[in-house]
Amino acid sequence: MTAAQIEVLVVDDNDDDAVLIGHSLSRAGLPVRLTRAETSEEVTATLAGRPVDVVICDYNLPGVRAEDVLVQVREHDADLPFVLVSGQVGEEKAADLMRAGARDFVLKDRLTRLAPAVQRELHEAAERRRHRHTEQQLRQAERLDSLGQLAGGIAHDFNNILAVISGYATILNEELGPDHALHADALAIEQAAARGSGLTRQLLIFSGLEPSRPELLDLNVVATDMQRVLSRTLGDDVELTTMLSLNLPRITIDRSKLEQVIMNAAMNARAAMPSNGRLTVSTEVVRETGHVCLSIIDSGRGMPPEVAARAFEPFFTTKGRGKGTGLGLATAYGVITEAGGTISLDSRPGEGTTLRICLPPAEIAAPASTLVRRPPSTTGRILVVEDEDGVRDIVGRILRRAGYEVHAADDPVEALRLVHDGLELDALLTDIIMPGMYGTQLAAELRKIRPALPVVFMSGYTSGSAPGGEELPADAPLLHKPFQSENLLNALHTVLH
Ligand SMILES: Nc1ncnc2c1ncn2[C@@H]1O[C@H](COP(=O)(O)OP(=O)(O)O)[C@@H](O)[C@H]1O
Ligand SMILES: [Mg+2]
Repeated sequence: MTAAQIEVLVVDDNDDDAVLIGHSLSRAGLPVRLTRAETSEEVTATLAGRPVDVVICDYNLPGVRAEDVLVQVREHDADLPFVLVSGQVGEEKAADLMRAGARDFVLKDRLTRLAPAVQRELHEAAERRRHRHTEQQLRQAERLDSLGQLAGGIAHDFNNILAVISGYATILNEELGPDHALHADALAIEQAAARGSGLTRQLLIFSGLEPSRPELLDLNVVATDMQRVLSRTLGDDVELTTMLSLNLPRITIDRSKLEQVIMNAAMNARAAMPSNGRLTVSTEVVRETGHVCLSIIDSGRGMPPEVAARAFEPFFTTKGRGKGTGLGLATAYGVITEAGGTISLDSRPGEGTTLRICLPPAEIAAPASTLVRRPPSTTGRILVVEDEDGVRDIVGRILRRAGYEVHAADDPVEALRLVHDGLELDALLTDIIMPGMYGTQLAAELRKIRPALPVVFMSGYTSGSAPGGEELPADAPLLHKPFQSENLLNALHTVLH
């Protein structure tokens, strides 16, 4: 039992009895504070006015029936302990009251029983509340789960649509050239599509539907590579500083998800520094644990404790409808914990915010990859398999413009037929989720004929365990729709060489 004061509401018409009740409780060492009520109005007023921990009610009240007080109390709070005290009560009556929800029943000449009864009731009520709280959390988790499924369900189609919009906007842009009067309009379309895809991606990552491709990374390299995009996000009036500890152990995490986390933090920092400020990105090793940490420190307005306490909650936002989604930190939390790390906030109003991400060091340090960059060559025969006409067309146009020879099929069976009929190809570019056969299965089939066939997958999303779907082969990159034409061309170039 905690030493906190116990608020007791005594419903009794008799002063002396109320005093006796109070005495018996304090004598037993319970730190009680008593409020007395005689009428049902007084009971209502007390319950409304202040928190009450336990109600002790006399059975023989002149103005009100104990049964009615009980109903009143139950309506106010189903878990509030209710103990009946009485000089005389028939056994039957007592049984009725217990059935109606009175938790215990003490005779006035046996008041020594009262304190243990109150203590037990308080304990049980706390248990019931804890239980209810757990149930609520479970329900919340279930809600989030179905939301995730919903998001996953539309994300596929939605990303296809965005791929078409952004693909054509890019072509428009290039055709119009920077001096054309409509160039800015086409650019705006491209940017809006990019924002749409950012939002879907956030939802997919958040709901765990986006498969992770963990890789061995140097946090310093990620932080350095992101400098350019960060400074663009932050704008001119935020000063960006990067402070790196050298020779970090490497970590294992999905790179694009980690970048999303850093981006989310930067956007929050940006919003907290409306006029100007400083953002510091720093890396370090925690000597005791070997964990590698990334801190993102802003000089913004900070958070009051009640906001900080809820900041990681999904859909919690202080930014108002249409401005914030409340998914930024929730997503960050999901990504970092999935990778075995921790994420925490330190913030005070007016003093800025530090978001700290710590990741465990990768067990085996693999040799640094030696990446040889070649000049992009864009010749070769590409088989594009995609069931969405719009996506297939735009991908075809991007590839042809770059110099590739493009063959298109609108489903895997058609693709297999083309190959059996003698089509020679240098690479396969395929959607994953298509009717009849998954792109992964198609790739496996074609690799039976040509084991080293270069393959690039594109997908609105893949749930790693799609029924009948195969694991993505490690040597085949996955492009998330909608993709920039630059990324598509890079991916193809990489697998072709
Ligand atoms: N760097 C920060 N400075 C001040 N407040 C922040 C910062 N980061 C997050 N917050 C608070 O936490 C809330 C939740 O953040 P987030 O999950 O990214 O959702 P959103 O940005 O869409 O509101 C924000 O609305 C804001 O009140
Ligand atoms: Mg945010």
